[in-house]
Amino acid sequence: MSDDSVIRVRGLTKTLQGQPVLRGVDLDVKAGEVMVILGGSGSGKSTLLRLMFGSIKPDEGAVNLLGTNICALCDEALDEARKRIGVLFQSGALFSSKTIRENVALPLREHTNLRPDVIDAIVKVKLEMVGLREHADKRPAELSGGMRKRAGFARAIALDPKILFCDEPSAGLDPVRSAELDRLIRTVSKNMGATCVVVTHEMDSAFTIADRLAMLDQGRIVAVRERAWFERLRDLPAEEARSLNEGEALVRQFLRGELDGPLSRRGDPEAFARDLFGVRARGASAG
Ligand SMILES: Nc1ncnc2c1ncn2[C@@H]1O[C@H](COP(=O)(O)OP(=O)(O)OP(=O)(O)O)[C@@H](O)[C@H]1O
Ligand SMILES: [Mg+2]
Repeated sequence: MSDDSVIRVRGLTKTLQGQPVLRGVDLDVKAGEVMVILGGSGSGKSTLLRLMFGSIKPDEGAVNLLGTNICALCDEALDEARKRIGVLFQSGALFSSKTIRENVALPLREHTNLRPDVIDAIVKVKLEMVGLREHADKRPAELSGGMRKRAGFARAIALDPKILFCDEPSAGLDPVRSAELDRLIRTVSKNMGATCVVVTHEMDSAFTIADRLAMLDQGRIVAVRERAWFERLRDLPAEEARSLNEGEALVRQFLRGELDGPLSRRGDPEAFARDLFGVRARGASAG
């Protein structure tokens, strides 16, 4: 790659069960930055993330990670590439039969030749970072949802990844734990040099951790900008907001969580009537 992008997404499309989820996504993520992906529920954020770390393949387009087109890799090569990638799944995705200690040790056992006592020490450090060292011998079912999330984070950073993908890291965390995880993501990016891609709904968290943000809507990226641009848009007074274009108005509505705006003027009332009664909505023209 010519510039300082470590992730380059080009023309990604993905249809799932006949429904177009991504309709041509381009996105560059620079080395060491925290890129936050925003978007409504069902807008395709988790799908985009899964494509970015190669757990599913696109219908069209390419994902270049650290100079490699991961869409073209066989399973073995993909496994090798994944050594440099950490993933925190939306669900946490821990092995339920293993303790938290074993879950975090797993990538170290699978991908390194480190001695067991060294692995133990690394696991302790990672669990201490997320405040779970004292819960190391519990299984996922014996932890709260937020604790599982933090255990998933410890596992995602076990191998000191070059790229860290996080899907809704703060969901289910209390405000203090959420702030702690935000700080950890910044630390992983700024002190450990990892490039982070984070999907989140939590606006406070998004504005705390992001260097840049991207807004996904109906399978397309409608804005990729520096954090300051998003902050200005969020804080723009209503009278100035009237002159915004459709895309900017949409982002502003999302950031402010407002009821009125382009995101609310969607949907087809006729479709609902057809579904309910098998007829056209009253007042709709015949034809
Ligand atoms: N495995 C799958 N099979 C079929 N459809 C899927 C699958 N995964 C996701 N989808 C569909 O793709 C769309 C986007 O889903 P996705 O999980 O990417 O959304 P999201 O933006 O992450 O939402 P949320 O904020 O609720 O997590 C949804 O309409 C969903 O129903
Ligand atoms: Mg999701």
